Amino acid sequence: MLRQVLKMGVPSLLQPSQKILAAEFNTPELLALIEDLVDTQKHYGGVGIAAPQIGINKQLVIIEYYQADISRYNDIGDCPRLVMINPQLTPLGTDNTTYNEGCLSLPGLRGEVSRPEKIAYQYYDPQGVFHSGETAGFLARVMQHEYDHLVGILYPMRMNDISKLAFIN
Ligand code: NI
Repeated sequence: MLRQVLKMGVPSLLQPSQKILAAEFNTPELLALIEDLVDTQKHYGGVGIAAPQIGINKQLVIIEYYQADISRYNDIGDCPRLVMINPQLTPLGTDNTTYNEGCLSLPGLRGEVSRPEKIAYQYYDPQGVFHSGETAGFLARVMQHEYDHLVGILYPMRMNDISKLAFIN
């Protein structure tokens, strides 16, 4: 079901989200919430969405994108649907990269954000299975952007130069 996406200025976007409890894994309620996030992300053409963006302050993000569908980025590859629950991220190395980010909670805006290039990640899937790994580049960036939603950070709060916040056209 399509849900309303909260926009910057709504106080709950700045609140930290609660961990999802073991008892919630694989429940109809959790799976329905995931479907709503998938539907909403697809409708608005995002590459990721976090539960607090639809007013649910729980530690749940969806990432899904396919290069063929996305013209605003080049060389991002494909990320089949990734559901990350209670994610933890750790920067690896000291390399940072700057990239032009957008967010469904700031429609029409883009801004340059510097983030660690490579990260280690840990998360649970909807069935409660633990996953861990490392990634770099675009996926690492999207993970960090979505993780920030779970701790109440929107990307302009990460910008080194707020004068680079701009409308797309
Ligand atoms: Ni966002």
